[in-house]
Amino acid sequence: GKGLAVFTSGGDSQGMNAAVRSVVRMGIYLGCKVYFIREGYQGMVDGGDNIEEANWSSVSSIIHKGGTIIGSARCMEFIKREGRLKAAYNLVTRGITNLVVIGGDGSLTGANLFREEWSSLLDELLANNKITKDQREKYKYLHIAGMVGSIDNDFCGTDMTIGTDSALHRIIEAIDAIVSTAYSHQRTFIMEVMGRHCGFLAVYTALCTDATYSFICEDPAPNNWDKKLCAKIAEERKSGQRLNIIIVAEGAIDREGKPITAELVKNVVVENLQQDTRITVLGHVQRGGSPSAFDRILGCRMGAEAVMALMEATPDTEPCVVSLDGNQAVRLPLMECVRRTKAVAQAMADKNWDLAVQLRGRS
Ligand code: F6P
Repeated sequence: GKGLAVFTSGGDSQGMNAAVRSVVRMGIYLGCKVYFIREGYQGMVDGGDNIEEANWSSVSSIIHKGGTIIGSARCMEFIKREGRLKAAYNLVTRGITNLVVIGGDGSLTGANLFREEWSSLLDELLANNKITKDQREKYKYLHIAGMVGSIDNDFCGTDMTIGTDSALHRIIEAIDAIVSTAYSHQRTFIMEVMGRHCGFLAVYTALCTDATYSFICEDPAPNNWDKKLCAKIAEERKSGQRLNIIIVAEGAIDREGKPITAELVKNVVVENLQQDTRITVLGHVQRGGSPSAFDRILGCRMGAEAVMALMEATPDTEPCVVSLDGNQAVRLPLMECVRRTKAVAQAMADKNWDLAVQLRGRS
């Protein structure tokens, strides 16, 4: 059978285990020899026990678990060619020429570079007598399929990244809990939610929790945001509301690009309205805990599609990323999606918010 390996890279997210499980079982079902690569690219570089053959039962009882059972890491060594050479050696000597990478845009870019270099890496290994001519010939093509695991929903090309739905559930549950105590004391709560360069979690939770206001990076707050915010809170209180929830995305900014922090928002509310105000930073709670039904199913579907893409690949098939389009699992050119995702970041750095939002939308 064909050698296929799966690894998770970058920040973890709920639903990654469902994806790993699906890759392993679909791979075995289709007759592949399937491997786990532990600790992301680091395990690929280090080899040894980090690359282990998986069987049907090694992915039993993991679908309900958050995180990734095979570990994830940031790997500086893989950024250098020397590291990638070691990784290529570890794969070829195990007969692995199909890779499923579950991670963010950085991890997918790394996989693409690795594939582009594959031929020259193998040449170098052969020249150094690390592999045989037979191995050089037999394993000359590397195939890549990616899936995006991230709670941020920050990748262009897919409607939902694996983990976003679970993070939304976690945030909403926390805010519902806050609402009950806020109500008792007539308080205003500033909730900081994750989403580095993407306001998706903040916007969705604001809509789901009847929040008064939200701050994100794609729609920077106007110069007079403090006045607008206070007027809105005052108006709601006047009409009988006993509490206010304000959602601040961790990457929120104003029109000048200055960060809008929970602390800053709290000070504005306290100084202008003298309200009893508290901050809750949800932090990594959002990224932990058991995956939602949606993320379990998403991981399963994406994993199966990724394996099918690899099995159908021909020598010149470009790396793909498995995405959700409406309710369809689709394969998109990996680098095109990465380029668009990077273009969003660039548009935001250039303060061209309209372009950023437009690029982020579906094509
Ligand atoms: O990209 C996922 C994410 O959770 C972001 O929302 C957050 O900014 C970041 O990762 C936190 O990274 P770390 O876990 O390295 O602190």
